[in-house]
Amino acid sequence: MAKYRIAWLPGDGVGIDVLEAAKIVLDRVGLDAEYVPGDIGWEFWCSEGDALPQRTLDLLQSVDAALFGAITSKPVKAAAAELVPGLRDKGLSYRSPIVRMRQLFDLYVCLRPCKAYPGNALNYKEGIDLVVFRENTEDLYAGVEFAPVPQELADVLGRLAKPFGHFGKLPGDQYAISCKINTQLGSERIIRAAFDFARKFQRKKVTVVHKATVVRATDGLFLEAAKSVAKDYPEIQLDDANIDAMTMWLLKNPFNYDVLVAPNLYGDIVSDLCAQMVGGLGFGCSGNIGEKLAVFEPTHGSAPKYAGQHKVNPLATVLAVKMMLDWLGETDKGAALEHAVATVIAEGKVKTYDMGGSHTTLDMGRAVAAAL
Ligand code: IPM
Ligand code: MG
Repeated sequence: MAKYRIAWLPGDGVGIDVLEAAKIVLDRVGLDAEYVPGDIGWEFWCSEGDALPQRTLDLLQSVDAALFGAITSKPVKAAAAELVPGLRDKGLSYRSPIVRMRQLFDLYVCLRPCKAYPGNALNYKEGIDLVVFRENTEDLYAGVEFAPVPQELADVLGRLAKPFGHFGKLPGDQYAISCKINTQLGSERIIRAAFDFARKFQRKKVTVVHKATVVRATDGLFLEAAKSVAKDYPEIQLDDANIDAMTMWLLKNPFNYDVLVAPNLYGDIVSDLCAQMVGGLGFGCSGNIGEKLAVFEPTHGSAPKYAGQHKVNPLATVLAVKMMLDWLGETDKGAALEHAVATVIAEGKVKTYDMGGSHTTLDMGRAVAAAL
């Protein structure tokens, strides 16, 4: 029996291409693992009304970790129109499977390291080495949304919140509400994860990203949680910044920052910005980590127009594999893989189209494998 059981979830679009490259690399790494394929993706939404079927959830209960490619998502109305005829009138509503996985398995840490590997022509500046901790289960992603707003809710809000401005007086079908829900527990655990990481890897500063000046209740809670958690880490500097200013300051001087921690939506935004500074979509990798399970993925989407063309850069996925190796405790293998990626980038002989070259997804996978 293999030491590890890994769920293998290519999804659709270029998710399939990049996981093929990841397999070439993993075979070379020689991880003692069984890779169990799981159904997830757009085709299962169309045919079964569920892009993340129960059998895949059962599989995820039984594995040590999962590697996930990408999935096509469409807005609710467009998604409903693509269901097979028998399912169309059932009132099914499409929800992103990755968001569901994060919530169902309580994968509360979204870890997104953004490192500029030397010699990557796409680096915004050489030497950038940022690590984003994004809260992964609550905030505006809580999924508590109303459109239209039911009258009973409108009444309660009118009474308790006494909303100023026009929306307090509107009928419920003329506005919509998405709840931003941040809990003490959810905030403290992600902030603690960021500080633990900083301590373990001798990072000097943790910057909390928020908008507590305006979004006082929820972001205020997040910021206060950070102040209280930080007391347990006196050797690490606590810093904080508003999300809007943060996007400017990050571009102005990325070297002022080290570890960032943010509620879900700001973390989504700021991690895309950080990924762009170290090469863009082809380099952004992500770990969705809980107490029992972790799902690793490239941050990019399924890019359906490139599906099956073996054109896209698999390095984001290969770096996600490195994160998976580290999480499994195979840190020597993780370090060797990162070194191989860095070598291929520095040599600059193999480049996918985003890097200005014409090598394929699998060429890149083979080049990393050869450098191992
Ligand atoms: C990400 C993506 C997802 C998110 C989408 C695909 C639902 O943007 O992982 O950053 O918003 O979390
Ligand atoms: Mg995103």
